[in-house]
Amino acid sequence: MSGATVSFTTQGGIALATIEHPPVNALSHGVRAGLKAALERTASDPAIAALVILGAGRNFSAGADVREFGRPFEAPELGEVIELTESLGKPVIAALHGSALGGGLELALACHFRVALAGTRLGLPEVKLGIIPGGGGTQRLPRLIGARAALTVIADGRDLEASEAQRLGLVDLCVASDLPAAAVAFAQQVVQKGAPLRRTSDIVPVLDEPEVFEEFTRSAGRRQRGFLAPLEAIKAVRLAYELPFAQGLKRELEMCMALMAGEQSRAQRHAFAAEREIARIPGLDTRLPAREIQTAAVVGAGVMGRGIALCFATAGIAVQLMARTAASAEKARGEIAKVTAAQVARGTLSAAQAEQRLGLITAAGAASELRRADLVIEAISEDLPAKEALFAELALHCRAGAILASNTSFLDLNALARASGRAADFAGLHFFNPAHAMRLLEVVRTPATSAEATVTLLTLARRLGKIPVLVGAAEGFVANRMLARRSREALFMLEEGALPEQVDAALTKFGFPLGPFAVADLGGLDVVLATRRARFAGLTPRERAADLLEQLNALGRLGQKSGAGWYRYDAERRALPDPTVHQLIARHSAARGIRRRAISDEEIVERCLYAMINEGARLLGEGVVPRPQEIDVIWLHGFGFPAYRGGPMFHADQLGLPRVLAALERYCDTVGPEYFTPAPLLRKLAGEARGFYDP
Ligand code: COA
Repeated sequence: MSGATVSFTTQGGIALATIEHPPVNALSHGVRAGLKAALERTASDPAIAALVILGAGRNFSAGADVREFGRPFEAPELGEVIELTESLGKPVIAALHGSALGGGLELALACHFRVALAGTRLGLPEVKLGIIPGGGGTQRLPRLIGARAALTVIADGRDLEASEAQRLGLVDLCVASDLPAAAVAFAQQVVQKGAPLRRTSDIVPVLDEPEVFEEFTRSAGRRQRGFLAPLEAIKAVRLAYELPFAQGLKRELEMCMALMAGEQSRAQRHAFAAEREIARIPGLDTRLPAREIQTAAVVGAGVMGRGIALCFATAGIAVQLMARTAASAEKARGEIAKVTAAQVARGTLSAAQAEQRLGLITAAGAASELRRADLVIEAISEDLPAKEALFAELALHCRAGAILASNTSFLDLNALARASGRAADFAGLHFFNPAHAMRLLEVVRTPATSAEATVTLLTLARRLGKIPVLVGAAEGFVANRMLARRSREALFMLEEGALPEQVDAALTKFGFPLGPFAVADLGGLDVVLATRRARFAGLTPRERAADLLEQLNALGRLGQKSGAGWYRYDAERRALPDPTVHQLIARHSAARGIRRRAISDEEIVERCLYAMINEGARLLGEGVVPRPQEIDVIWLHGFGFPAYRGGPMFHADQLGLPRVLAALERYCDTVGPEYFTPAPLLRKLAGEARGFYDP
């Protein structure tokens, strides 16, 4: 592969092999060949006493080249290079900086010594790609750091910082600067002392906590429900204690290859690639200079406004929080302090960091105080005239060049852009609740939004640690428009014969972390009802008549916060099916003249999912997003779509669009054409036996 090389130099008897393969030094074919040549030269040249392996640029290595997955690897394979490294008769030292991940760390584990720059991240994140390490990671890491720590890295996919790795015995020396010089000096010492070569595979592993495997299996079943790779990873680590090294290595590779050929890994690799692909936007020059955002402002100090303000403070950006009065803004600041205090109590934040973040948030009571802001985000209640009035006022006070944005989830952004009087510098920034924790951010541009403003917002979003997805200003954008289709079917199925817990169970079995009714109870049924009311005019007669939410609200059942909603909740906040709700639904069906029937789990999943996929096809057809990747990323990060299914559009392709089309046509007959008429794009692709991802 071009641009994938290993340079070879010597310094007083120490050879340096430097991996040069930007941007992340993936171990592509050219790198593997270069490493093999460097090892052979070190072995054969009597003037060379030891070899240091380094990475050029930002990283040591991000591991195997994911683009080579799914086809046979060209020789030399990674396993061969790793084996050569460990068996070399001269000391081999890994010099680690930036990231040493996957195959990169496996190579380092086979070196006889490891030196790292402080701050280096060492990890085996293969489970995130649906596979397990295949270059000895599951056999060597437990030999070095023990089963528990190794399982955290391999089964949970958690990486270690260099000093933590040193404490665990994974790194021999951690230095603050000048890694190459430190590694060469280390190599020279090893040579001078005639220190014996430390081959990790020679270590006889001792298991001091036999119960650790059960413990991790239980926790993987809970926290990574449905994923195959973490369970396989645990089994592979266990083999390090049960089989001789060579046999463990062989089994590990077999398990890795079997996972790589499976559906889950294909889906997870798709998700990895899609997240990166969406940063390249057709027709937008993302190298345009982004404007600097030094000070931001958020108008509206409700749950969303407060969460958004905290996002900025967390990223170290000063932010004004404006409410109707300075006093209520100050009170909202106090609410944010409760969130950071909880983080301190949990140990995820230090008291000093919490104080620093709060210090970046200042209260404001009038638009005239926002003159210095480079960006103002509106997060007031979903009322179009109120928002229009606010933007007209902001236009008067905000400086020229400041970008104005709305956090609306379904109002007409074009109307708000007009009201702002600066449509080129206006866009939507649709955060998800809780805004400080959720990584997804829909960046919504209208036809008038300038390329420069768009690039500025995308750049800012990354600074905030978000995954920005650029979408067009269609009603409900992408996330909420598709979600509304799913919610509608879930509600209709209650009328037709299902119960909330049955719908939720079918969807959690599919892989969502929570079902739609449990999610609604969590967010508050008053909040869900407010959204329904705001959209009421656009609902079909059948949707209007499906007024179960109104009925629950009338009973004061507002969800978890009131102790009851679609479910009732016990003292530990466990959701329990509630006969009162069952009776209410049965009465409702009878009053509407609907004969309740048994609804299968298959029908539940199909109707919820296919309604979403069909809407996704419409969004693509309308050009609201340019590619299916945007939709998949939104669902993976916004609503917990199981990564091992790759996102709704990828999943649809796996099912086969003819199958989805046939089901949509069936539901057109049984539920109604208003809800299931196939999108033209879906019909076209299915007719051509293609998928959303087929070129
Ligand atoms: N193989 C091939 N390409 C890789 C890669 C790998 N293992 N890891 C990253 N890349 C590519 C990305 O696709 C991206 O390409 P693009 O610019 O064409 O979109 C580029 O390298 C930069 O990666 P990105 O993730 O955008 O940069 P970052 O600086 O935010 O993060 C890493 C760098 C290494 C931390 C991150 O890319 C990562 O975690 N990679 C995966 C590592 C992994 O899973 N290794 C195990 C493989 S079995």
